Amino acid sequence: MLDWSEPAAPARQMPPSLVAQITVAADQTGLGTIDRSGGRVSVDDKRMINCRADVNQLLPLKYKWAWEKYLAGCNNHWMPTEVSMQADIALWKSRDGLTEDERRAIKRNLGFFAASESLVANNIVLAIYRHLTNPECRQYLLRQSFEEAVHTHTFQYIVESLGLDEGELFNMYREVPSITDKAAWALKHTQHLDDPDFKTGTPEADQAFLRDLVAFYVIFEGMWFYTGFAQILSLGRRNKMVGIAEQYQYILRDESIHLNFGIDVINQIKIENPHLWTKAFQDEVRAMVREAAELEAAYGRDTMPRGFLGLNAALCESYMHFIANRRCAQLGLARVFDETENPFPWMSEAMDLKKEKNFFETRVIEYQNGGALSWE
Ligand SMILES: [Fe+2]
Ligand SMILES: [Fe+2]
Repeated sequence: MLDWSEPAAPARQMPPSLVAQITVAADQTGLGTIDRSGGRVSVDDKRMINCRADVNQLLPLKYKWAWEKYLAGCNNHWMPTEVSMQADIALWKSRDGLTEDERRAIKRNLGFFAASESLVANNIVLAIYRHLTNPECRQYLLRQSFEEAVHTHTFQYIVESLGLDEGELFNMYREVPSITDKAAWALKHTQHLDDPDFKTGTPEADQAFLRDLVAFYVIFEGMWFYTGFAQILSLGRRNKMVGIAEQYQYILRDESIHLNFGIDVINQIKIENPHLWTKAFQDEVRAMVREAAELEAAYGRDTMPRGFLGLNAALCESYMHFIANRRCAQLGLARVFDETENPFPWMSEAMDLKKEKNFFETRVIEYQNGGALSWE
C-alpha cells in the first residue's frame, strides 16, 4: 500500500508528554489532530471502550447490532404533534371524568418523565458519547439523542394541550421527594463521568463507566420508565387519556430499543474486558437494581396512595420485581427478588413477546420502511 502522508510537523515541536495526550484525545474524541500516517481501520481494531482506532471511520462495521438498532430507530420515526389530544382535553377539563387519585397519578407520571427525558439525553450527549469509542455505537447514540428530544417535546405538547402548570410539572424532579430521590440516585453515577478530567482506561474508571450505563440504560430507561408506561397504558386501556396513552406507546417502542442497545453495549464491554466483571462488581450491579426497585416502590406509594381501577402501588411493586429480575437475566446476573408473576400481562404482550406490530396503530406502521427486527 502506498503511503503519501506527510509527517505531522506541529506535533514534533511539542514536548513528548503533550504529544501523547493529544494522540489519546484524537483517538477517543475524533476531534484531535489528524493522524496522517495512520493505517486504515480494520474490524479487528474496533473496540467498545479505550479504542485507539480512528472513531471517524464508520465502515467497516464491527457491531452490526448497533447499526441495526440505528436503522430500527429511524424506521420508527414519529412526532407527538401527530397525535390528537381532543379526547384528553375534554376528559381533563370535565368535572367528573377522572378521580382525584387518577389526576394525581397522571400529573406525577408526566412530571417524572418530563425532566427524566432531559436527564437521559444529557447523560448520552455529555457522558456516554465521549467514552464509547466506536462509531457505529455513536451513530446509534446520535439517533437516540434525537428520540429523547422528541420525547421531551411530547411533554411540552401535553402541557400546552391540557393547559397544565409548566413550572409545576418540569420542577417535580426537584420538588417532589419521591421523584427527586430517583433523579439524584441516577445523577450520582453520571457526575463522575461529567468531570472533564475523567478518562476511561483504568479498571476503576471503566467500572465507573459501566455503572453509569447500568444506572441510565438498565435502571432509568429499563425499569423506572416501565412502571410509568404501565400507569398510563392502564388508563388508556380504560379509554382514559387516550392521546397520552398513544404517545406513551410510541415512547415505549423507542425505549425498548434504547434498553436493548444499553444491554448489548454492557454485554459487549464485558466480553472485551472480562477483568471488569468481577464477582464484587456483579454484586454491586445487583445491589443497584435492588435499590432502584425500592426507590420505585416508594414512588408508587407516593403517586398512588389509594390506587384506582386496575392499578395500585402494590401491583406496581410486583411489576418492578418482575422487571428487575428480567434485567438481571439480560445482564447474565442472578435474580434479585423472589420469582414473581407479571401482574400486567398486557404489558408483557405488548413488549416482552415482541408483538409491536399488533400493538401499534396502523398509522405508525406506515412509517416503517424497513423490515421489523427482533432481538432479545
Ligand atoms: Fe426517552
Ligand atoms: Fe430513552
